[in-house]
Amino acid sequence: MKHIFVLGGTGFVGRHVVQKLVKQGCTVTVATRRARHARELQILPGVTVLEVDVHQQQALQQALAGHDAVINLVAILHGNEAAFQRTHVDLPATLARAAVAAGVHRVVHVSALGVNPAQPDAAPSRYLRSKARGELVLRHPELAVAVLRPSVIFGAEDKFLNLFAALQKVFPFMPLAGAQARFQPVWVEDVAAAVVQLLHVRIAAGSTAAWEATGSKVYTLAELVHGAGAWAGVANGRGRPVLPLPDWAGRLQAALMQLAPGEPMMSADNLDSMKVDNVASGRFLGLADLGLVPAALEPIARDYLQRNQPGYGLLGVRRGSKR
Ligand SMILES: NC(=O)c1ccc[n+]([C@@H]2O[C@H](COP(=O)([O-])OP(=O)(O)OC[C@H]3O[C@@H](n4cnc5c(N)ncnc54)[C@H](OP(=O)(O)O)[C@@H]3O)[C@@H](O)[C@H]2O)c1
Repeated sequence: MKHIFVLGGTGFVGRHVVQKLVKQGCTVTVATRRARHARELQILPGVTVLEVDVHQQQALQQALAGHDAVINLVAILHGNEAAFQRTHVDLPATLARAAVAAGVHRVVHVSALGVNPAQPDAAPSRYLRSKARGELVLRHPELAVAVLRPSVIFGAEDKFLNLFAALQKVFPFMPLAGAQARFQPVWVEDVAAAVVQLLHVRIAAGSTAAWEATGSKVYTLAELVHGAGAWAGVANGRGRPVLPLPDWAGRLQAALMQLAPGEPMMSADNLDSMKVDNVASGRFLGLADLGLVPAALEPIARDYLQRNQPGYGLLGVRRGSKR
């Protein structure tokens, strides 16, 4: 596998995947809606950035020609039914048709932990239901499909622990919906390494195989939110108290957040997703089966959450020297 096509390569996980592919000597084509989203990838050797409408089968088929495999990392976290259908179901369906027509027979598709394609309608949220259908539409007699289902992903550029740490710099306590929901956070580097490995695992044409990507420890959401503040050094490393909200109050909070401009921190659909535990089921292969040992969250999160503080680095040293 030398020539790799990546959809969603400009995103949080995608940038790590592309860097790993480059290090392995692959040539990589990154499809994007806007070339400027791929500015930092464009300078990497062997990377071609292509502005293309990946929802158009003909355009995608043309772009895919000549590649050995395709990786799909496109997803959204918020949106209405139509947006989830378009991004998580229609796009993989288009990709499957375009890949077959272009002679690309290996697909690595990043899904999400908790997705159950055997019962898509049983899932509690639009996100999980559409992700499950997205796995199903990739099935094709000529495609060998590797599916990776990660738990929540942490890393220096995440919008998860960084956000919770930033909020604690402003607010004295953290009202939190879904406080007892359980997660098994996995490091972005481990996810990217798994994606790259899945290009090479043996899968027969017409088959789909799934791997779960989970970290070394299970946390409740309350532990992660509180930890983010503590690890970032908020309140001298104590973090802010977490105030668990009952379901009705969490929904009210989510409804109010959805009225504000921009991406909501927590939508009603996110709350619905948290009705099922986001931890390894044990019924599928995992990172260990790919020879990967998942990194522990706390030392890594501590490092980047502190580095991401405005006063860190040269500025922090200068501030410190004035005291
Ligand atoms: N982050 C997590 O904690 C987490 C947890 C579990 C599973 N996952 C899964 O991991 C994969 C990667 O996630 P991520 O966090 O890297 O996502 P991300 O940072 O939001 O990136 C998603 C990418 O998808 C593309 N994209 C978004 N909407 C699109 C649309 N309507 N049409 C075409 N392209 C679109 C964007 O590319 P352009 O803007 O360049 O077009 C973007 O680079 C996804 O499948 C996600 O569901 C993530």
